Amino acid sequence: MASKILIIGACGQIGTELTMALREKQGNGNVVASDIREGAEQLMQSGPFEIIDATDYKAIEDVVLHYEIDEVYLMAAMLSATAEKFPMRGWNLNMDSLFNVLNLAKEKKISKIFWPSSIAVFGPTTPKQNTPQLTVMEPTTVYGISKQTGERWCEYYFNKYGVDVRSIRYPGLISYKTLPGGGTTDYAVEIYHEALKNKSYTSFLSKNTALPMMFMDDAIRATISLMEADAKDVKIRSSYNLGGISFTPAEIAESIQKEIPDFTIDYAPDFRQAIADSWPSSIDDSKAYEDWNWKHEYDLEKMTTAMLEGLKAQN
Ligand code: SER
Repeated sequence: MASKILIIGACGQIGTELTMALREKQGNGNVVASDIREGAEQLMQSGPFEIIDATDYKAIEDVVLHYEIDEVYLMAAMLSATAEKFPMRGWNLNMDSLFNVLNLAKEKKISKIFWPSSIAVFGPTTPKQNTPQLTVMEPTTVYGISKQTGERWCEYYFNKYGVDVRSIRYPGLISYKTLPGGGTTDYAVEIYHEALKNKSYTSFLSKNTALPMMFMDDAIRATISLMEADAKDVKIRSSYNLGGISFTPAEIAESIQKEIPDFTIDYAPDFRQAIADSWPSSIDDSKAYEDWNWKHEYDLEKMTTAMLEGLKAQN
């Protein structure tokens, strides 16, 4: 029998595509989408949808019991750039929502959790190139602190209460279906929109700032593979490094110029530059490969083609 799934934060950048992918796999009626606000037409129409505030334990519990939910994907979060503006709101949302879901599992009301962590768990003292799974972690952003703390709690709930929680440290995610909101890596999505609209883009990160990135299709596939893996193979219960690709604003611009030759880029770094400077440039994800056979498919060229084609088809 297919598992009954609840996605919290289903209207966001990852949630939207994850919901559609899981509905296709598990059947529309088995995947309940929820968010604090309404989302894309397709998401709302294709299966059950509930309004849930992720910080409201009772609201989540009611939906879990009503639909007899087995698995929860907690995708609601305040991302790095926004959380720097609203530190306490970011901390409260990111931590309260996680505890709500961990406690539901501790009380055996659900049996499996997916919770995303991020490259933001790393900080300026972390080795920048090919950052290992186990290394120095001194995050300097509110978002990074909340994700690192969350990882510790996930591992704690697994060790102490046997909670089957699984997690990935997502790199910057690039997609054309739903816009990202409030992250430092958002430039790598905006640039494609602007390339098609105006043939120019002003990057809020400097020319040579390399960050780990991934096309959304790869991220969704990784998420579902990890959730489908045998529990015994999921050896890391804090969060798995996930690498994908690494590029700079100059390199992504160059890949766009191959398809739109008169595209131009200039640079006006803002407060997000300091956040990016504190993060790794590339990630070693060999543990994900060893434990659940992970391998990314999209390189920069393939992603640029997919992004431009996807965006053109939408207009
Ligand atoms: N994409 C996220 C951000 O920029 C990183 O997890 O905040």
